[in-house]
Amino acid sequence: MEPYSMKNPYRAKALGVKCVTKPGSAKETVHIDISLEGSGLEYVTGDALGVFPCNDPELVDSLVAALGLRGEDPVQQADGTVCSLREALISTYDITNVKKSTLSKWNAVARSARLDAILEDKDALKDFVKGRDLLDLAKDEEMKATFVDANAFVSILPKLAPRLYSIASSPLAVPGQVSLCVGVVRYQSLGRARGGVCSTYLADRLKAGETVRVFVHSNKGFRLPEDGATPIIMVGPGTGIAPFRAFWQQRTIDHATGPMWLFFGNPYKATDGCYEDELAALVESGALKLSVAWSRDQAYKIYVQHLMDAAGAEIWQWLERGAAVYMCGDANRMAKDVEQILLTIISREGNRTAEEAAAYLADLKAQKRYQKDVY
Ligand SMILES: Cc1cc2nc3c(=O)[nH]c(=O)nc-3n(C[C@H](O)[C@H](O)[C@H](O)COP(=O)(O)OP(=O)(O)OC[C@H]3O[C@@H](n4cnc5c(N)ncnc54)[C@H](O)[C@@H]3O)c2cc1C
Ligand SMILES: NC(=O)c1ccc[n+]([C@@H]2O[C@H](COP(=O)([O-])OP(=O)(O)OC[C@H]3O[C@@H](n4cnc5c(N)ncnc54)[C@H](OP(=O)(O)O)[C@@H]3O)[C@@H](O)[C@H]2O)c1
Repeated sequence: MEPYSMKNPYRAKALGVKCVTKPGSAKETVHIDISLEGSGLEYVTGDALGVFPCNDPELVDSLVAALGLRGEDPVQQADGTVCSLREALISTYDITNVKKSTLSKWNAVARSARLDAILEDKDALKDFVKGRDLLDLAKDEEMKATFVDANAFVSILPKLAPRLYSIASSPLAVPGQVSLCVGVVRYQSLGRARGGVCSTYLADRLKAGETVRVFVHSNKGFRLPEDGATPIIMVGPGTGIAPFRAFWQQRTIDHATGPMWLFFGNPYKATDGCYEDELAALVESGALKLSVAWSRDQAYKIYVQHLMDAAGAEIWQWLERGAAVYMCGDANRMAKDVEQILLTIISREGNRTAEEAAAYLADLKAQKRYQKDVY
């Protein structure tokens, strides 16, 4: 049998979904356990899981109705089989993230002067697609399109892409099982509540006992040190905490003696803590040093890099003792700011020029003592 992969995903059984954060959290986060039992799929601490999502059936029904089509209309699939339009739109096609190519194909049918103008102007296009899905187009008198049949409509659509999630468990903690820690994307746009396809699929629609299509995505650049005595510093605000749960599980199972230091951050202490019981037990046992930045609990922002800056002398001592530094989470802002503070600490505490600090960090990277998993 062909091994499971992105091209041949495994239909894994969902074991359960529970909230990690508390009700009212500004960063609603869920924990999902999935069984890989019998799949032959193996993963290493630090790897990610690829998940093929399904669209929200309510959104699909509204779209089909707005297009004047019928959910039961037959659709020819790439493999020659036939399924219903409703089924195809739930499992196979992307109907929410509108790309230029989809819009052009839509407009070949709609022949809208307004869309012509938007498609000509890069900035207008960027603004237009933000927070807009195909239902918005189908309901707009100026832009609606009439497709001859269901096959004509799906022919303009790209396939639903899989999403990656850092695996939040060690393969040795619960063999044959994988855990994810997912931030749920929800927002309002044009007067309608919207959700990220995969995060809401995992949080709201996937029920225990149902199957989800998954594959293992190897992440060779994000690995624990081979020597369990090596100290590790983990920087993971928000869902960046996910792979570090795998790290602390693995290190506990390995009876690793190296100390661990986690910098975590989220908006409010009252609602946004993650894996608090596990962290409290690790701190209690002396295995973990924990620094948490509650960003919105005071009038000014406190982020992980502010705590790192304040603890710069100790971080420098850890680095000089051979510590490895790991960073996970937001690539756009956090990763740049955290890297900058690391350079500041190396320069200030290690008495180095900016160039020497950059060379020190580059050397850490070369030794695999500075690894990032940012998205
Ligand atoms: C290697 C890797 C590891 C990852 N690990 C994790 C992890 O452990 N946990 C985790 O939660 N995520 C993780 N992610 C991110 C994850 O893959 C998805 O990108 C994320 O869950 C969102 O996917 P979605 O399908 O829910 O949203 P999508 O359907 O892809 O929607 C996201 C899009 O919604 C739009 N959008 C969002 N907010 C707004 C708004 N306010 N207004 C208008 N438009 C908006 C934006 O266009 C945005 O690009 C990881 C990513 C990578 C690459
Ligand atoms: N590709 C995608 O579609 C997608 C989807 C979801 C998430 N993501 C990425 O994943 C990241 C993680 O999302 P998340 O919701 O778990 O957490 P997050 O948005 O990173 O927020 C976690 C904590 O980090 C703080 N923070 C904000 N800016 C920061 C900075 N420059 N440096 C350090 N900390 C900072 C936040 O504070 P405040 O909020 O109070 O400012 C919050 O307390 C997102 O920011 C996003 O970039 C991507």
